[in-house]
Amino acid sequence: MVWEGVIKRYREFLPIITDKTPVVTLNEGNTPLIRAVNLSKELGVDLFIKFEGLNPTGSFKDRGMTVAISKAIERGVKATICASTGNTSASAAAYSARAGIKSIVLIPKGYVALGKLAQAMIYGAIVLEVEGNFDDALRVVREAEKEESIEIVNSINPYRLEGQKTAAFEICDYLGRAPDVQVMPVGNAGNITAYWMGYKEYKSVGKISSLPKMFGIQASGAAPIVYNRVFEKPETIATAIRIGNPARWQEAVKARDESGGKIIDVSDDEIIEAYKKVASSEGIFVEPASAASIAGLIKLVRSGDIPKGALVVAIATGNGLKDPNTAISNLPPTFTIKPSFSEVMKFIKS
Ligand code: F0G
Repeated sequence: MVWEGVIKRYREFLPIITDKTPVVTLNEGNTPLIRAVNLSKELGVDLFIKFEGLNPTGSFKDRGMTVAISKAIERGVKATICASTGNTSASAAAYSARAGIKSIVLIPKGYVALGKLAQAMIYGAIVLEVEGNFDDALRVVREAEKEESIEIVNSINPYRLEGQKTAAFEICDYLGRAPDVQVMPVGNAGNITAYWMGYKEYKSVGKISSLPKMFGIQASGAAPIVYNRVFEKPETIATAIRIGNPARWQEAVKARDESGGKIIDVSDDEIIEAYKKVASSEGIFVEPASAASIAGLIKLVRSGDIPKGALVVAIATGNGLKDPNTAISNLPPTFTIKPSFSEVMKFIKS
C-alpha cells in the first residue's frame, strides 16, 4: 500500500474532512512500533515504543497539523499562529509553508531546543521570542480567536486532536488489539486527550475490545496535573513539556480517570537516565520530553502500577536530534586521535 498520510489512511474516522477539503500532507504517520527487546527483559513487561520522532518534522505534531492546516486552507485563512515549546512551531511552519500561507510562532525566549528553532526558521516562519513561558505565549495567541483570517493551530484547535488520534489507530492496527497500558509525556495535554479519543472510537466501532490504561508523565518542575495546581514558573530540562497550566487539563484528568490510569511526575535526573538508557540499550534516540515516558514507565513498574507481563506501549513523541545540546552535555567526551589505524585499534582492544 502506498502511504499518503493520516488523512487518506483514516478518512472514515475523520468526518470533518470533506471533498472540499484540500489535503495538505507531508505523508505523516505510519511510524514504527518498535519492540523494545532489552528494556522488556529488564522490566518484565512486553514493551513497544511508538517512535513518533520519525514523522516528517520529527514529532507527533504532524498528525494534527495535516488536519488543522487542511481545514484552515478550506476556510481560506491567510496565516496560522501558535504558541510553542518548539515542536508545534516546527510542524506549523512546515505545513504552512507547504500550503503557501504565513506562519507566526510565539516561543518562550531561551527555552526552545536548537533543532526546533532552526526548523521553524528554515521553513520560513515568523519567529517571535516571547519574554515569558509557554503559558504566557499561549495567552497571547488565544487573542487571535477574534481574527477571522488567522487560524490558531495549537491543540486548543479541535482539528489537531482529530489528526493526533490516528496514532492510537495505528497502534491497534499493528498489534491487532489495544495495549494493556499506554505511557506518554504530558505537557499541554492535547496528545493524551487525542489518544484517548482514538482508542474509544476504535472500541465503539468494534475494532478493539478493550481499552488501555492511560499513564501520563510530567516533569517534577512542571507537574500541574499531578499536584492539581498551576505551576507559575515551570522548570525542566525537558523543555517540550515545560508547561504550568495545560489547556487540555480537564480532558487529561478524564482520560486518566476513565481509563483507570495515573498521571505521575519524574525528576530531571530520572529523565536523563532514561534518555541515555533508551538510546544505548534500544538504539532509539528521543528528546528529553519523550524520555519522560520511559522514566515514568520504570517508576510505574517498580511501584506495581504496571503489572509484570503487561503489553505496554510507550510513546516517543519527538526525535533526539531536535535537542543536540542536551545530548552533548550529558555524554562522555569524544577522543582526538592522529590519523592512524593503530590509534583506532587502541579503542577497539580496550
Ligand atoms: N513530547 C513532545 C516532544 C512535545 O513537543 C510535547 C508538546 C509533548 C510531548 C506533550 O504533548 O502538549 O499534547 O501534552 N509540545 C508542545 C509544543 C507544547 O509546543 O511543541 P501535549
